[in-house]
Amino acid sequence: MNKPILILIMAVLAMTGCADRNEPLVNRGFERAAAQYECMYEATPYAMYPRTVNNSGETRLIGAEPLKTGANWTNGFYPGVLWQIYAHTEDPVWKARAEKVTRALECQKYQRHHHDIGFIMMSSFGKADLYSPSEYYKNVLICSADTQLERYSDTVGVIRSWDQWTSRDGSFTSHWPVIIDNLMNLDLLFTAWKLTGDEKYLRPALSHADRTMKNHMREDGSAFHLVSYDPETGEVDARMTSQGKADSSAWSRGQAWAVYGFTMCCRFTGEKKYLDTAVKAADFFIGHENLPEDSVPYWDFDAEGAPDEPRDASAAAVAASALLELKDYVDDAAKSQRYREAAVKMLTSLCSPQYMAEEGENNYFLLKHSVASVPHNSSVDKPETYADYYFLEALLRLKEDIER
Ligand code: GLY
Repeated sequence: MNKPILILIMAVLAMTGCADRNEPLVNRGFERAAAQYECMYEATPYAMYPRTVNNSGETRLIGAEPLKTGANWTNGFYPGVLWQIYAHTEDPVWKARAEKVTRALECQKYQRHHHDIGFIMMSSFGKADLYSPSEYYKNVLICSADTQLERYSDTVGVIRSWDQWTSRDGSFTSHWPVIIDNLMNLDLLFTAWKLTGDEKYLRPALSHADRTMKNHMREDGSAFHLVSYDPETGEVDARMTSQGKADSSAWSRGQAWAVYGFTMCCRFTGEKKYLDTAVKAADFFIGHENLPEDSVPYWDFDAEGAPDEPRDASAAAVAASALLELKDYVDDAAKSQRYREAAVKMLTSLCSPQYMAEEGENNYFLLKHSVASVPHNSSVDKPETYADYYFLEALLRLKEDIER
């Protein structure tokens, strides 16, 4: 081929993004996701939702109906995975599968036992409305946001995570516990506000975000896991942890929720204070001396037994997705580039055989080595649907960035 034609082809490839060296990463992740979740879909009974693998080696399935415990915060991620495979492949077979498992979750729009209706509905119906917009999906989301508001109090100014929580040593009981994870649930309120224009959804979301910024975030950019409020006065009465190593430590997935959550607040409001908070949280995460060379964190940044501590691939997946959004909001080009590179490094590790399952293995989940809660000895070093969901979301964000 003569040189001018070669240069022309290279230029076209560069313009269309095809020459981006990260494109194979995206394709590799989605090819494996499609292979794994094809089998997962075949193996999963209707209206059951895979979450993780039990210690006995069986896939742990959760029913569609709202449960009283927080253990089913994960229902929406399986539909969300299917929607994202559809987004990448544009294959109507995946769309039909995603629609079916999303519709079966409609009963969750009345889930009022805990705060996680945001996680559940945005990862399922939220993705459904993103990739296949319809009045039906929108109405379910608005109804869900109305349910979510029932857990908000004007006195306290935040959404109550759980009805009650007792510290691990039994010495303290909170009657209005709020965990950093709850920030993620605001996505549902912001979405309902955007869909309806009704400020009844916006005001609580802003109040919750502001109080979380003030009361959960430490000076160094790290997050307390749990802040307890007095329901009568709205005063903070304790700062503790549930899933972290210690009250004073930085639980890795909680830190990832902080980066993602404040970035999302910035998306909906354009407020600099949320951007600044997200940036501090991100800088803490990616600059931490205990972040391993492959950028997949140990379950807690303060876990002392490295290199034998469990990793949390889900924390890396959440952080990578968040960084790929945050990079578009920061003015500083060097910082933006740093966030993109940090995200790509995490995704490269997650795409490697160390973290990504071989076809047909890992009970058809995509990623290995996540945790639910180390202190509760719950799902330690296991696959989790939320890891797969945020990993694919990050890959889609990277793909969009490549094609831009
Ligand atoms: N509550 C969500 C989580 O465990 O990260």
